[in-house]
Amino acid sequence: MANLNILVTGGCGFIGSNFIRYMLSSSTCRILNLDKLTYAGNLENLKDVEGHERYEFVKGDIADKETLDEVFGRGIDGVVNFAAESHVDRSIIDPDAFVQTNIYGTYRLLDQARKKGIGRFLQVSTDEVYGSLGKKGKFTESSPLAPNSPYSASKASADMLAMSYHKTFGLPVMITRCSNNYGPYQFPEKLIPLLISNASEDLSLPIYGTGSNIRDWIHVHDHCAALALVLDKGAPGAVYNIGAENEKTNLEIVELILRIMKKPRSLIKFVKDRPGHDQRYAIDNTKIRTDLGFRVAIPFEKGIEETVGWYVKNRPWWEKIKTGEYLRYYESWYKDR
Ligand code: NAD
Ligand code: TYD
Repeated sequence: MANLNILVTGGCGFIGSNFIRYMLSSSTCRILNLDKLTYAGNLENLKDVEGHERYEFVKGDIADKETLDEVFGRGIDGVVNFAAESHVDRSIIDPDAFVQTNIYGTYRLLDQARKKGIGRFLQVSTDEVYGSLGKKGKFTESSPLAPNSPYSASKASADMLAMSYHKTFGLPVMITRCSNNYGPYQFPEKLIPLLISNASEDLSLPIYGTGSNIRDWIHVHDHCAALALVLDKGAPGAVYNIGAENEKTNLEIVELILRIMKKPRSLIKFVKDRPGHDQRYAIDNTKIRTDLGFRVAIPFEKGIEETVGWYVKNRPWWEKIKTGEYLRYYESWYKDR
C-alpha cells in the first residue's frame, strides 16, 4: 500500500480517528479525511496528527455529489467508509439521518468510486446486520442478514448496495463486519464510555432490562489492524467478520468497570429496555484469521483497564462533549426509563 492516497470518510469519529492514527504510523499512505462533523465528529480526536504531512481534512457530506466530485478529483486510490450514524438508540428516536447517510451516502460514494475506477473500496460494517443470536452459535460470513433496528437495517442496506456494485460493475469492494468496539475517543453515548464517565461523576449507570444482553467486545486498535489487513490483502467481493471472541453480559461489563474504578454497585440503575433490543452478538473470526493471518493483540482485561485510565486522564475531552446537544439527547432518552 506504499504511497497510496486513501480517502477515509467519517475519520473524526471514534473508529475512524483511531484508524487514521494507525495508518499514519504504520504505513506510507496519504490520508484524506472527509467528515461532515455531525454531533459525533470531533476535530479534537485527531489534534495530534493535524499537522502531519501525509494527512488532510475536508469538511463535507458523503451524500453530497459536488463534494465527492471535488474530493475524488484530487486522485484517490482507495476508500475506507466509516461515515455513518452509529447509535442504535438515536435510530429509534429518529431514523431519518440513518437512511440518508448510511444508505444514500454510501450509494453516492460507491457510484463516485465506480466512475473513477477506484482500486479498493472498504465498507466498514457491523455484526448487527446479522440480527440477534440465541444462547448458541456465532455469526459467520454466510449467516443471513436479519437486522432489527433502523441502524442495523440501514447498515445491511449499505452492505447490499456495496456488494451489488461489486457484482454488477466490478468495483473491488470488501465488507468488514466487526463486533462492539471499545477504547479511546468513543462518544460517551455508547455503553462503555457512558459507564466510565457517569461513574467518574458518581451519576447512576443505566442498564437496560436485566443486563443479560451479550456483546462481543474488541479493542478499537485490534479492529483498526484488521481493517488495514483487509484494505491491503482482502479479496474483492469478500466479507470478513472481525471479532476477538470475547463475549460479556452488560452486567459483567458494568461490574468490571465499577471494580476498576473502585465505585459502589449502588450506582447501577436498571432501566426500561431498549425496544427491539438484540439479545446476543458473537463473531466467528475464523475466516480473517485463516485467510489474512489476523491475530487479536489486546486481551480484554488489559484493554479495559487502559481504557478506563484513558477516560479518567482525558476527562476534559468527554466533559466538553457532555453539554448542549448531548445533554438534550441524554435527558430526553433516559427521562422516562
Ligand atoms: P461515530 O458515530 O463515532 O463516528 C461517525 C463519524 O461519521 C463522525 O465523525 C461523523 O461526523 C461522521 N459522519 C456522519 N455522517 C456523515 C456524512 N453524511 N458525511 C461525512 N461524515 C459523516 O461512529 P464509530 O463508532 O466510529 O463507527 C464508525 C463506523 O464503524 C460506522 O460505519 C459503524 O457502523 C461501524 N462500526 C462501529 C462499531 C462500534 O462498536 N462503534 C462496530 C462495528 C462497526
Ligand atoms: P451500545 O454501546 O449502544 O452498542 P450496541 O447497541 O450497538 O451493541 O450498547 C451496548 C449494550 O449496552 C447493548 O446491549 C445496550 C446496552 N446499553 C445499556 O444497557 N445502557 C445504556 O445506557 C446503553 C447506551 C447501552
